[in-house]
Amino acid sequence: MNVPLLDLKTQYARMQPEIMKVIEEICAQQSFILGAHVEHLEETLANFLGTKHTIGVASGSDALLLSLMELGIQPGDEVITVPFTFFASTGVISRLHARPVFVDVCADTFNFDPTQLADAITPRTKAILPVHLFGQCADMEAINEIAQAKGIPVIEDVCQAIGAVQNGTKAGAFGRTGCFSFFPSKNLGAFGDGGLISTNDSEITERLKLMRVHGSRSEYHHHLIGMNSRLDALQAAVLQVKFQYLADWTAMRQKNATRYRQLFHDSGLDEKVTLPVVGAGNTHVYNQFTIRTPRRDALNAHLTQKNIGNRIYYPVPLHLQECYETLGYHKGDFPAAEQAAQEVLSLPIYPELTDEQLVFVVQSIKDFFD
Ligand SMILES: Cc1ncc(COP(=O)(O)O)c(C=O)c1O
Repeated sequence: MNVPLLDLKTQYARMQPEIMKVIEEICAQQSFILGAHVEHLEETLANFLGTKHTIGVASGSDALLLSLMELGIQPGDEVITVPFTFFASTGVISRLHARPVFVDVCADTFNFDPTQLADAITPRTKAILPVHLFGQCADMEAINEIAQAKGIPVIEDVCQAIGAVQNGTKAGAFGRTGCFSFFPSKNLGAFGDGGLISTNDSEITERLKLMRVHGSRSEYHHHLIGMNSRLDALQAAVLQVKFQYLADWTAMRQKNATRYRQLFHDSGLDEKVTLPVVGAGNTHVYNQFTIRTPRRDALNAHLTQKNIGNRIYYPVPLHLQECYETLGYHKGDFPAAEQAAQEVLSLPIYPELTDEQLVFVVQSIKDFFD
């Protein structure tokens, strides 16, 4: 049996007629940049997230970059974030010549540890950037409490967690802005790159809408310095079709997670591997189902040899990346992130997995430990 880490072809096969119809419509119109399809998607996603506005942009990385630019982040400013995430969360800070200041993650949920936040704040702190890793929210109540007390804006990295909920609020509705990615492997993925920013503030929306078109209010008149970061009509139309399935896909990911937990338990693997821990008040949308074991590298090789897709997200924490040597961090600075990088392994969790495939994955892990 072959179990890929993700199977977008099966997903596409079901939607092919609907998707080809909108693609043909747009090709007939020959109108590709922003426009009605993007506006429709922005409205749909604002309703879904429970925020007043959303702004379609070219990628999740750009959503983060534009959010920091809109905030006026300057060289030398500090932005507090985590070292256990995809590089884009901090790369955008560095691109503005600001400094990523790390706090460790919680050992169980892999998310921003709010108990370390207060000590990381300095007079140069201009933003806090929690990441909702693998599909569940960081502890936003605790983070927002400290941020509000200090008057520091919060930018949420929601790239892996569209639809995740914490105590009734959707990820992306907690911060000044929420940043989403439509990279194809996300729970809502485009046919290429795409991104979105959510916010409740109409002035921020107005500025971001200008900034994604080089700050231009009318042609060749530039009010602000921005960049080219537009969501295109083809991506928006594809995403609009796929959005209709998002709730079902999320439910199927959650069902697969429940089934994994049962199979791991029934196989007596509870002692050998640690299953994903869901934080208090969280609804997890399982962009990844990430287990941990000290024997990770050998298990990774074993599953690959059995044709079971699996990936290490992420093998090197960001404070130990070569490009960040100049930040002056060292091994041992963030023990929870460093241990996670040694032990994590993400398993297939995509909606279309069959029960036979789930059973095969867990049986193969049992064979490895036996
Ligand atoms: C946590 C996180 N932040 C940011 C990004 C960047 O998104 P994109 O690839 O759309 O630029 C990603 C996606 O890969 C991500 O997983």
